Amino acid sequence: MSLLKRIERGGGAQPGGGAGAGATPPGGPGQPLGGPGSPLGSASGGEQNVELLRQRREAVNIGRGVDAKDIKEKVQRRLLEDLGPGETLDTRSEELRSRIDELFNAVLQEEGIVLARNERRRFHEQIVAELLGLGPLEPLLADETITEIMTVGANKVYIERKGIVELVPVHFESEEHLRRIIDRIVAPLGRRIDESSPMVDARLQDGSRVNAVIPPIAIDGAALTIRKFSKVPLTVQNLIDFGTATVEVFEFIRACVISGFNIVISGGTGSGKTTLLNVVSSFIPGHERIVTIENAAELQLRQEHVVRLESRPPNIEGKGEITIRDLVINALRMRPDRVVVGEVRGGEALDLIQAMNTGHDGSMGTAHSNSPRDTLSRLETMVMMAGMDLPVRAIREQVASAIHLIIHQTRMRDGSRKIVKITEIQGMEGDVVTMSDIFEFEQTGMDGTRIVGRIRPTGLRPKNIDKIIDAGIQLPPSIFGIGR
Ligand SMILES: Nc1ncnc2c1ncn2[C@@H]1O[C@H](COP(=O)(O)OP(=O)(O)O)[C@@H](O)[C@H]1O
Ligand SMILES: [Mg+2]
Repeated sequence: MSLLKRIERGGGAQPGGGAGAGATPPGGPGQPLGGPGSPLGSASGGEQNVELLRQRREAVNIGRGVDAKDIKEKVQRRLLEDLGPGETLDTRSEELRSRIDELFNAVLQEEGIVLARNERRRFHEQIVAELLGLGPLEPLLADETITEIMTVGANKVYIERKGIVELVPVHFESEEHLRRIIDRIVAPLGRRIDESSPMVDARLQDGSRVNAVIPPIAIDGAALTIRKFSKVPLTVQNLIDFGTATVEVFEFIRACVISGFNIVISGGTGSGKTTLLNVVSSFIPGHERIVTIENAAELQLRQEHVVRLESRPPNIEGKGEITIRDLVINALRMRPDRVVVGEVRGGEALDLIQAMNTGHDGSMGTAHSNSPRDTLSRLETMVMMAGMDLPVRAIREQVASAIHLIIHQTRMRDGSRKIVKITEIQGMEGDVVTMSDIFEFEQTGMDGTRIVGRIRPTGLRPKNIDKIIDAGIQLPPSIFGIGR
C-alpha cells in the first residue's frame, strides 16, 4: 500500500474525496511526509499533509473536457474485474470505499487526467453515489412520501404515492445500467440474477423489499419492484384516519387479539395485509412472549419480549435454505405465547394450524386471497403442500377449528385500502365450513374518483363472544349493530 493510501485510510474514508490526493504525485511520495510511524498515524497530521500536497498539485493542475461518466465507467469496470469469483460487492464495507478511491486515482493517473480540486471532488462524489448507492433510484428512496418504486426497463419508472401510481421522469442510462443496479442490490445478499435465474427477491439495507425480473423473462427490460420500508409504521390511528376501518372495528379486533382468537389477515398483493398485521399484533398484551416469522423482516412490534425470526433462501450453491415452515416448527419449541407469521404461503400452514389447534391460541398471520372463503380454501391447499397426504375432509376440519377470524382487506380502485370483511368461522355443516360476517364494507357512492362508504356491523353477535367476555372485556352490543 502506498503511503498516500495509508494516509487516505488513516484519515477515514470521507465521501466526496477527503482522500483527494492523487496516486503518485509528481514530486514522488513519501519524502516530505516522513516514514511510516511518523505523525501520519494521527488523522489530523495526515490530513494536513494531504492538504499541503493537494495545494501543491492544484497549482499545476487544470482539469478540462473530462467526462465524469467515462471515468465512472472505467472505475466500475475495473472494480468488477478486480472482484474474485464468488466475491460480492458489499456496499457497506469501508474496504470497498477505499478500493473505489484507489481505482479512481489509478484511472485518473493512467488516463493522464488532471482535475481541479473541486471538480475532482464532484466526480468522486458522483462515482461513489453511483457505485455504492442505487444511482437514479436514490432520490426516490430518500423521498418518504413514496411507498413503492417500479421500473419497466430503463426508461419507465413508476412510483406509488398515497395509493396513486404515477410515471416519474427518472431514467437509467441504459438497460445495462439498470441491471448493474439490480446486481448491486442482490449481490450483498449472496444472491444472483442472470439468465439461468432471472427472478430474485431481495431486500435493501433499510428493509425495503425488492423483486427483480430480467430479460428475456421480462420482455420490455428489467422489472424492478421496490416496496419501501416505512420507518414509521402506520398506527391504528393512521388506519382510522385513512378510513381503513372504524374505531369500533378496531375495538372489536383488539378484543379478539387480547382474548386469543387465531386470526388470518387476507387480501391481495399490496392490499395492506402486513401493515394491518403490524397494527393488529400491537394489541398483543406486553407480558406475552411473541415469536415472529417472516420472509423479510417487515413487522415492527413495540412489545419488549419479541423474538424475530427470518427465513433464508438457498445460497448460490443451493444450500442452507431455512424455510418459513422450518421456522414455524422451531418456534413451537420456543415456548411462545403467540406466533405471528408474516405471510403464510406454503406447507407451514399445516404446522401453524396444528399449533393453533393444540393450545397456541392467539396466533396470527396473513395470507393472499380474494375473499374470506377463498382464504379458507387457500389454507387447505397450503396444508396439502406440506405433503402429508391428509384427507381433504380432515384438513378442512382442522382449518375450520383452528381459525377463529378472517380479516379481509382490499386495495380499492381509488387506491385506498379498506377492511371489507371481518368474518368469523363458525364450524362445519356437512362438508362445508360455516362462516358469518361480523362486519362488512358497504359502498354508498363516489365522491369524484373517491369511494365513499363505511364498514358496518352486520347485526350478528360473534359466536366466540364468550372468549371475549372471559378475557374480561365488555363490548357494547351496539358495536355489532345490536339493539340500535
Ligand atoms: N390501510 C392503509 N392505508 C393506506 N396505505 C396503506 C394501508 N395499509 C398499507 N398501506 C400501504 O400500502 C403498501 C402495501 O402495504 P403492505 O402492508 O405491505 O401490503 P401487503 O402485505 O398486503 O402486500 C405500503 O406501502 C403501505 O404503506
Ligand atoms: Mg405483505
